[in-house]
Amino acid sequence: MILAGKVALVTGGLSGIGAAVAARFAAEGALVVAGDLTATQERLGDGAIAPLRLDVADPESCAAAVAAIVDWHGGLDVMVNCAGIARDMPFLDTPVEVFDRIIAVNLRGSFLIGQASARVMSAGGAIVNIASVSGMRGNTGRSAYGASKGGVVTLSQVMAVDLAERGIRVNVIAPGPVETPLVAAVHDAEVRGVWNRAVPLHRYATPEEIAGAALYLCGPDAGYVTGHVLAVDGGFLAAGIQRG
Ligand SMILES: NC(=O)c1ccc[n+]([C@@H]2O[C@H](COP(=O)([O-])OP(=O)(O)OC[C@H]3O[C@@H](n4cnc5c(N)ncnc54)[C@H](O)[C@@H]3O)[C@@H](O)[C@H]2O)c1
Repeated sequence: MILAGKVALVTGGLSGIGAAVAARFAAEGALVVAGDLTATQERLGDGAIAPLRLDVADPESCAAAVAAIVDWHGGLDVMVNCAGIARDMPFLDTPVEVFDRIIAVNLRGSFLIGQASARVMSAGGAIVNIASVSGMRGNTGRSAYGASKGGVVTLSQVMAVDLAERGIRVNVIAPGPVETPLVAAVHDAEVRGVWNRAVPLHRYATPEEIAGAALYLCGPDAGYVTGHVLAVDGGFLAAGIQRG
């Protein structure tokens, strides 16, 4: 029970990677709040995983959710920010409204929920932001998404430095392709083929494989790890030319 008695907020916690993180953290003894735009609950209920309506792009929603968690559970120890949206489209065809919305949720949202969470965390607190390999490489069609995730990487590094004096660690996971509803909506058969060839392990990750990395980064084994970007990408960032 790596997280016994810890209070954890998992944003985007009702789908894909966030749902897997919520389930894994609950299995490791945490009291988990699954904050998500699609949650209908405005108040926290009982259960190891409590859904709560949260819009990470809205400062008032972030402040209200964190206040509700502190009221209910007495504090917040861990926050894993999995809320995110994605669109693939050529740079020249990307409308400014799409660019703004992706930045608002993925980057501004990471700032807002990170700030609200860190304000109530004590020494020993841990934050993990989910970025992407698309925030570290120029993957085609990802001007808005890649820029938002590149911003999340740098934001997280600054957070790690600024929050170190409070004893709060901040790290990043950069997943490669992961089998989730988001990917099912964005990756057609051709895109899947491209990814499967580019990833040395030649497959997509499971959401549970990302959850395992988040558990490590939030747990005591990572007590001296902060400001780190952990690629969970089947070797994508390490690769150059490949046979086959
Ligand atoms: N699936 C992948 O291949 C992959 C790869 C790299 C990074 N990521 C990142 O991982 C994170 C999770 O992605 P996923 O694949 O599990 O997606 P998903 O669509 O399955 O889950 C995302 C969740 O975030 C929620 N959400 C969206 N906007 C929100 C908002 N404004 N406030 C609160 N919640 C909001 C959605 O309702 C959904 O439940 C995202 O940040 C995504 O960019 C995913």
